[in-house]
Amino acid sequence: MFTRERIGEGGAARVATLVALLDAQEQQPAVRRLRAWAFEALAPEPGESVVDVGAGLGTELRRLAEAVAPNGRAVGVEPNPGLREEASRRAALLGSAATFIDGDAADLPFADGAVHVLRCERVFQHLADPQAAAHELARVLAPGGRAAVLDSDWGTVISHPGDPDLVRRYTEANWRRMPNPFAARHLPNQLRAAGLLVDHDIGSAALVMPPRALLGSGVVHRNADAAVEEGALTREEADRLLADVMAAARAGTAFFSVTMFGVIGRKPG
Ligand SMILES: C[S@@+](CC[C@H](N)C(=O)[O-])C[C@H]1O[C@@H](n2cnc3c(N)ncnc32)[C@H](O)[C@@H]1O
Repeated sequence: MFTRERIGEGGAARVATLVALLDAQEQQPAVRRLRAWAFEALAPEPGESVVDVGAGLGTELRRLAEAVAPNGRAVGVEPNPGLREEASRRAALLGSAATFIDGDAADLPFADGAVHVLRCERVFQHLADPQAAAHELARVLAPGGRAAVLDSDWGTVISHPGDPDLVRRYTEANWRRMPNPFAARHLPNQLRAAGLLVDHDIGSAALVMPPRALLGSGVVHRNADAAVEEGALTREEADRLLADVMAAARAGTAFFSVTMFGVIGRKPG
């Protein structure tokens, strides 16, 4: 839903859906924990220049903007105009110095070495060429600069209940529709290949979806339909899987999780 190629789809209703999704995700305790871990590792100082790539609603950038005040600069790069507008609106409403501009992770609008602190959360999974983005993050970092790249790895999905063979085929069909489903496991090497020193400590947090959330979102049904369309499941198999998952969601016994990881890269210097 967040890939650059699909930004123009769906108009205002689509933007409202993305905003609601991001708001819900950042309420998750696991997301908050991993963000707090990354913030501590980044250790922003007053006067520094900070950038959030794929800033979404700008919540973390506003936090960073406070930490670098009064002379620092906080810029969010966000290619989706609807999200950019919402992030700008919230920053203005809350009196934040954070600003938001258009741009792409693989072509950042900053000079070499211009950024002290950089973050990029749940963006790499949407990139067809994540290594190009890693090089770009390293290019704009100043010597001694720090980058936190946070992302999910969809190979860690736990989806319960359901016939294991159907769950596997459903899950693998999802992976095939994502540009970079195993984003997190590649991050340390991608940052190293871009010339950054990677911290030994890799942060992690499992996002466990509340069972009731599976009922309302429609995501499971949409993914099942796509798996049928692709031929990964028959309609009968998809309906059987959906019936099991939805019954468990109603009973409060369903379990769905995906793990997010955080990698810190430092520019030598
Ligand atoms: C799942 S959202 C995460 C937003 C925010 N980082 C957060 O954690 O709440 C993915 C974000 O990546 C952005 N994005 C997608 N492709 C991008 C690209 N090529 N360069 C920069 N950002 C991109 C989307 O517009 C969206 O804001």
